[in-house]
Amino acid sequence: MAQIAWRQQMELSYPPLDDEHKAFLKVVNAAQAAADSDDFSRFDDIFESCYEYARTHFPQEEDVMERISFPDLIPHMKSHQKFIDNISELRQTFSQAKTLTARRHIARQSADFLSTWFLGHILGRDKVYKPYLVRLRNLPPRMNYD
Ligand SMILES: [Fe+2]
Ligand SMILES: [Fe+2]
Repeated sequence: MAQIAWRQQMELSYPPLDDEHKAFLKVVNAAQAAADSDDFSRFDDIFESCYEYARTHFPQEEDVMERISFPDLIPHMKSHQKFIDNISELRQTFSQAKTLTARRHIARQSADFLSTWFLGHILGRDKVYKPYLVRLRNLPPRMNYD
């Protein structure tokens, strides 16, 4: 798949989360570049960056959704968990691929999964809580951090 450019449509207009989404897009595009050039050695770092994104971004986003009483929090959390499961599976398959053909196949599959997931999740799920972010302004100061 082609490199993905950040576009206005992806913007939540909430910098703490937009910045993390933008940083993760770099990882997604790096995976495409690595798959395109058969640079398999980069996939260790790419998978690690995906876990790092899951460890830092997901809890932060879930905390925001909870504070603004976003009604679809639970399905959204499940979607985050599914991403972690998918990455774990891809990483394991990658580590077991011994031939060039097998590595090339799993590298392509991993990169395409990341691109598809990024677009689907940002535009299909994260965008859904955007209208609720105005509620952050009305929270008591203690809860209205960042
Ligand atoms: Fe999300
Ligand atoms: Fe997100």
